Amino acid sequence: MEKRKIKDNIYWLGAIDWDRRLFDSLIPLPDGTSYNAYLIKGSEKTALLDTVDPPMEDTLMEQLRGVEKIDYIISHHAEQDHSGTIGRVLEKFPGAKVVVTPKAKNMLMDLLRLDESVFSPVEDGDVLSLGDKTLTFIHTPWVHWPETMVTYLEQDRILFSCDFFGSHIATSDLFVTDPGRVYEAAKRYFAEIMMPFGKVIAKNLEKLKPYDIDMIAPSHGQIYDQPGWIMDAYDQWVNGAPKNLVVLPFVSMHGSTRQMVDHLASALTDQGVRVELFNLPVTDIGKLAMSLVDAATIVVGTPTVLAGPHPMAAYAAFLANALRPKTKFLSILGSYGWGGKTVETLASMTGNLKVEVLDPVLCKGLASQSDFKALDDMAAAIAKKHKDLDLV
Ligand code: FEO
Repeated sequence: MEKRKIKDNIYWLGAIDWDRRLFDSLIPLPDGTSYNAYLIKGSEKTALLDTVDPPMEDTLMEQLRGVEKIDYIISHHAEQDHSGTIGRVLEKFPGAKVVVTPKAKNMLMDLLRLDESVFSPVEDGDVLSLGDKTLTFIHTPWVHWPETMVTYLEQDRILFSCDFFGSHIATSDLFVTDPGRVYEAAKRYFAEIMMPFGKVIAKNLEKLKPYDIDMIAPSHGQIYDQPGWIMDAYDQWVNGAPKNLVVLPFVSMHGSTRQMVDHLASALTDQGVRVELFNLPVTDIGKLAMSLVDAATIVVGTPTVLAGPHPMAAYAAFLANALRPKTKFLSILGSYGWGGKTVETLASMTGNLKVEVLDPVLCKGLASQSDFKALDDMAAAIAKKHKDLDLV
């Protein structure tokens, strides 16, 4: 793919990774991804904003073939999918300065073994003139590492946001053409890496309010030429109340726990509470993470295995604990054969969640009528809690 013009003297460069299906050896990418870099040619200076993941560095270098000089490499984020080709770019343009936050400088010296002399650190709010184009650097920590920043191009009112507002989609469309699809991909991305930092992201959103933004150019996925809706979506994800929704990750070995899950799901639905089931052995973890963005309640369903929760239920609990959703209530259900410490083990794994723990329902073997009654009571209790908070 050749470089593509966005506006006069502003170009998209980068690589579309149609094949990638896993990020950080953890995050499912059902639609692939892209690593977007941008070239801004001012009347006096030229800047390259971010690079690409090292396996695709030849694509970027080919796109830079006709470029005579680069004065600045703006590195918004030290993670290697954006920074990993800086060394190669510096070999071609040895006079270029790498513009970074002070934290990013130290991280890039560690991650890429770049020499300290190549860096030109910038403070929050610093301005860099390229002649007829002016860049303002805005520190936006914890989106999703501590060193992250974004760049605002004043004359064209473009925000170059790196991971912030990004989405993992491989597509040849430069601009958003299907907002529904991009909304889902961006929410998945937010859920998987940004959600734990919701409070500081809310502050970063506030920080962007004074800027008149016509376009957001992220470093993954498509460019937003109508950016209002994605900024509103982020606002809802970090500042909005959770929804009248129970997320129910579960695993069942012989059907007993599954029977309880189905009964609770039916009882919750009767009570007017939405419910989403995730059968963990066949679940896309990204889908589960997305649901956690909205869930007011999590109920983990697990049989007892080797005196504790099934390892897949433990994985889901560990993940939810790491993602720190806005969830208000937590409970556990499941079937056991002869005993164990399922509840204690799962409770010990979810200390980050600021939740009220509701009475669990554990039964020996197949659920009895009294166990189903206990599940009905759990559904009623959840419905009342949600109603008391006016959740919709
Ligand atoms: Fe796309 Fe955090 O790197």
